[in-house]
This record gives sequence, structure tokens and C-alpha cells, in this order.
Amino acid sequence: MGEDDGINGLPTHCYLMCPRQPPIMASMNFASDNTSGAAPEILEAIAQANDGQVPSYGADDLTASVTDRFKDVFETDLAAYLVATGTAGNSLSLACAVPPFGAVIAHEASHIAYDECNAPEFYMSGAKLTGIAGAHGKLSAEDVNRVLTKYGKGIVHRAQPAALSVAQATEAGTVYSRDDLSALSEVCRTHEIVFHMDGARIANAVAQLGRSPAELTWRAGVDILVFGATKNGALGVEAVIFFKKELAAEFEFRRKRGGHLFSKSRFLAVQMLAYLKDDLWLRLAHQANETAQRLARGLADIDGVEICHPVDANLVFAILPRGVDKALKAAGAQYHPWMVPGDAANGKMIRLVTNFSTTPEDVDRFLSVARDAVDV
Ligand SMILES: Cc1ncc(COP(=O)(O)O)c(C=O)c1O
Repeated sequence: MGEDDGINGLPTHCYLMCPRQPPIMASMNFASDNTSGAAPEILEAIAQANDGQVPSYGADDLTASVTDRFKDVFETDLAAYLVATGTAGNSLSLACAVPPFGAVIAHEASHIAYDECNAPEFYMSGAKLTGIAGAHGKLSAEDVNRVLTKYGKGIVHRAQPAALSVAQATEAGTVYSRDDLSALSEVCRTHEIVFHMDGARIANAVAQLGRSPAELTWRAGVDILVFGATKNGALGVEAVIFFKKELAAEFEFRRKRGGHLFSKSRFLAVQMLAYLKDDLWLRLAHQANETAQRLARGLADIDGVEICHPVDANLVFAILPRGVDKALKAAGAQYHPWMVPGDAANGKMIRLVTNFSTTPEDVDRFLSVARDAVDV
């Protein structure tokens, strides 16, 4: 095994299960947006919601008010449901949109296609995911249209395309502009399929693009959004939002059947309410995006470092000179080697993730160790 293999010699993606994972340091930790704790505002709100007896399984007032809050945020009528993981949100929402004989088009390196252990296929009762390539983690309207045109809609031998799913921000840390989304939704309308958005990092995308949540979702043709919060300061909550409300008809039954209806739902709801209050979600995302920009700028100035994708959100993908990589690891920096299908930089690229709690000092310390290693 070479030095570029994953942490403790395990390949990329095995780190999550690695019992010998190095201890998480207070700084220079760029391993994931999930290594952080929760935002203090959210913890405080949970503590406040702890008093008293309230109805269970989502019949409480806090859960009821989440839908109204989302109606304000997105400036439209909608249906919203809470789950605790992005995988559940993606899988259960796609199951509402796709029949067992259907197909979902997604990027070949998308979380749903590559990192959810077939949960979408499981919940869709046999429907398939068709992964297609696209530069920097994005799908182009032309490529999606080409694939859909050839798919064989109506031919009894073929899976029937039923949804397009894009991640916003993408797994490569790029974002779809409003125009990108409108072009994709036009293709969805032409082929009569549902437009689904995995918004595990929707806050980072909205913060970066500086447009309203409505503009970047339903006004651009998105039918279903999985609105992530966990990566950006919540303890563990995501919302499945149906802008096309008729698609939500089966959701509650599917969520219960899938084991994702929380009995003490108030604790999911209160996290989401605190996250949305006074635009906390956008403030936290801005912080994460800013430290990612600082990191990317600093790295780009170091001899021999290559930045692999545009840095639009809180992810930086880079190829480091071997000496720099060694020095950073020796100094205790945490990050993962990254491999995704179809990427030319496979085997060389690392992924650095900032989150709402990353400080400029964390970044500067990392950059200073990297610069010193080049000077040696
Ligand atoms: C693009 C994307 N979607 C969804 C998720 C949600 O995953 P989880 O089920 O771990 O909450 C993640 C987490 O890494 C992700 O990166």
C-alpha cells in the first residue's frame, strides 16, 4: 500500500468506519462538515424545548410550525417533513416520485449514486439510478437531455425515467446557477420527469449565489428539495420539502414504514426552527464558505499545489506536493484522500472541508505548515 492510500492505509470512504481513526484535533480539521459540534443557538433551543409533556410523532406545535416557517422562507405553499439524515430524505422523497420500474438520472459521483449504500434503490423498491458524467460534479442540460432522449420512454423493456436529481452544492463543491437550474428544469418538463434536489449543502449554495431560496428552487423548476441542516450547525435534522405538493401524498406512510418517523419529533422541529430563525442558516454557511475561500486562495499561492474544482461552497479539492502532504499530516492536519468515479485526479486528490465552526486561524495554521514544507 502506498503513502497516498487513505487514512491508516484504508481506502477513501472506509475512514468513516475506521476504529483507528486519529483523534480529532481542535484545529486544522478539514475532514468533513460533520466533524463539528452543533451551533450554540441550536443547542440552546433544544434545551428550551425540553420542558413539559407534548404530543408525540409530529403532533406537537413545534413540528406544525416548521411547515409555516418554510412557507415564509420559500415564499410559497409547500409540504415539509422532517427526517434525521440526508440519506433518508433523499431515498424517501425519491420513492414518492419514482415507480419501481423507474429510473433516476444523477451525476455518477453523486451522494445518492455513490455514497448511500443503495438506500435510494431500496426505498424505491427496485428503481434504478443512472449515473452520468459531468465536469466538476455538475450535470449539463445538454447531457441530461441526450441521455433522456435515448432512454426509451414507453418501451416496455426499459426502465422508465422518472426523476432527475442534482446536488446543490455539488459533491465537488461547485454550485448550479439559477440559469443552470432553469435549463435542467426545462429538460425535466420536456421529458415529463420530476426535478429533485439534494440540498445537503443548500445553505452554502444560497449563501454563495446571493439569490433568494425561492429563486434557486421552485421558481427555477425544482419539485422536491431535501433541505439539509446537519452539515451546517444542526445536531441532526433535514427537511423534505415538496413544492409540488401532490408528490407528498405517500410520504408520511413511507417515512413511518422506513423507520424514520421520530416519536419525540419536537427535538427535530426545534432544531430546524432555530436554524431558520434570523437567517442563522445563512450566517453559518457564509462562515464556512469564507474559510473555504481563504483556504483555496492560500493554497493556490503555494508552489506545486493544484486546485481541482472551482471553490463555490465549503469544499476545496486539491493536489498537494508529496512533501506538503507529509508535513501537514505530521503536524496533525485532518483531511481525506478523495476518489470519485470518472475523475482524472483520482489517487492524487484530497478533499478539504470547512464548516461553520472553522476559524480563519485554523486555515492560517494549515497554510503556514504547507508553506514551510515548500520552503524546506
Ligand atoms: C451531497 C450529500 N447529500 C446527502 C448527504 C447526507 O448524508 P447523511 O445520510 O450522512 O446525512 C451528504 C453527506 O455527506 C452529502 O454530501
